[in-house]
Amino acid sequence: KKGNYDHFMQKEIHEQPHSLTTTMRGRLRDKSVVLGGLKDHLKTIRHSRRIIFVGCGTSYNAALAARPFLEELSGIPVTMELASDLLDRKGPIYREDTAVFVSQSGETADTLLALEYALSNGALCVGITNTVGSTLARKTHCGVHINAGCEIGVASTKAYTSQIVVITIMALAIGADSISTQSRRESIINSLSDLPDKVREVLRLDNEMKDLAESLMQMQSLLVFGRGYNYATALEGALKVKEVALTHSEGMLAGEMKHGPLALVDETLPIIVIATRDACFSQQQSVIQQLHARKGRLIVMCSSGDAASVCSGGSCRLIEVPLVADCLQPVINIIPLQLLAYHLTVLRGYDVDQPRNLAKSVTTQ
Ligand code: UD1
Ligand code: BG6
Repeated sequence: KKGNYDHFMQKEIHEQPHSLTTTMRGRLRDKSVVLGGLKDHLKTIRHSRRIIFVGCGTSYNAALAARPFLEELSGIPVTMELASDLLDRKGPIYREDTAVFVSQSGETADTLLALEYALSNGALCVGITNTVGSTLARKTHCGVHINAGCEIGVASTKAYTSQIVVITIMALAIGADSISTQSRRESIINSLSDLPDKVREVLRLDNEMKDLAESLMQMQSLLVFGRGYNYATALEGALKVKEVALTHSEGMLAGEMKHGPLALVDETLPIIVIATRDACFSQQQSVIQQLHARKGRLIVMCSSGDAASVCSGGSCRLIEVPLVADCLQPVINIIPLQLLAYHLTVLRGYDVDQPRNLAKSVTTQ
């Protein structure tokens, strides 16, 4: 039921303080985390030579968002695979690998075929899904339900943020045997408890994102630049705009800007740069300066109060978001972009919940 909302996508975006609360329920202690579905397998995971994430679309992006923190806490190489590409290449997978399959529906054909492939190669297979009883949940050796509640809009929103949170908690569980990261882990656990309130805060940008959508109504194309923890935010923000607003949009790694994308910059092409505070902030400041120098049409997402540091001299539109722990910032930063995609779609008169040519769950190859 949509309740007071016009569309499921809108409801699911605004539901995120609640869905994240249910995702974390029973899983956070004061100084540690509990994942019932993984506890008997943590030792095996810690001893694996590599962790491989496999998914499609938004689920792949969620794993990409959580990857830096998992690498940091586990010290294990973490690689990313789009399910179809892993199958096309028959990429090597070994018994010593842990393969983590991420899928909201748990029924995506490409992801399930990649699972069969990893199982036949003897890897430990872990599922992360929203759907209890799904094929993914049944065929994996172990896993975690994200418990975000049923998602109806074809464009995934609340499942994305819950997937990031679950993989972050998984990283905390895998890293729990290390003394050197204990204070880092405790600070992230504290930030996780505050996250639903921060999500409530960022949702107040709804009207501002509607205004921004109005100003972008005529655009032919949109670029989104991110890096570090927010490379995934750039990919996922662009995917939302593509999927529902039916507008060409590309998420790009800001570190690659000089190697091609810069050629596209002119006074008309809107460019969103994600420049919230983290270890990559100064690099993003210089990206903004270079885009200014080429008279780019900039929209900068920054941490609250950072307007002067990101946009001195030039003109740019700002999206100011609350600051949270670096590895959780992708959960906050995607929300204005979800709202933007939603409002653009409604303004343009397209179907938000059932975009042209797409299906919620793609069960054929
Ligand atoms: C479980 C219960 C939850 C209960 C809690 C109390 C279920 C589905 N969950 O949650 O209702 O409140 O205990 O302690 O009954 N699994 C896979 N692959 C996947 C996902 C999950 O194999 O892709 C397995 C897990 O390894 C686990 C089981 O499914 O054995 C349930 O997973 P999950 O719901 O995440 O476990 P808990 O959070 O402990
Ligand atoms: C489809 C959906 O392409 O499958 C996307 O339209 C989704 O929104 C993708 O991200 C993957 O789905 P799932 O259920 O495996 O997470």
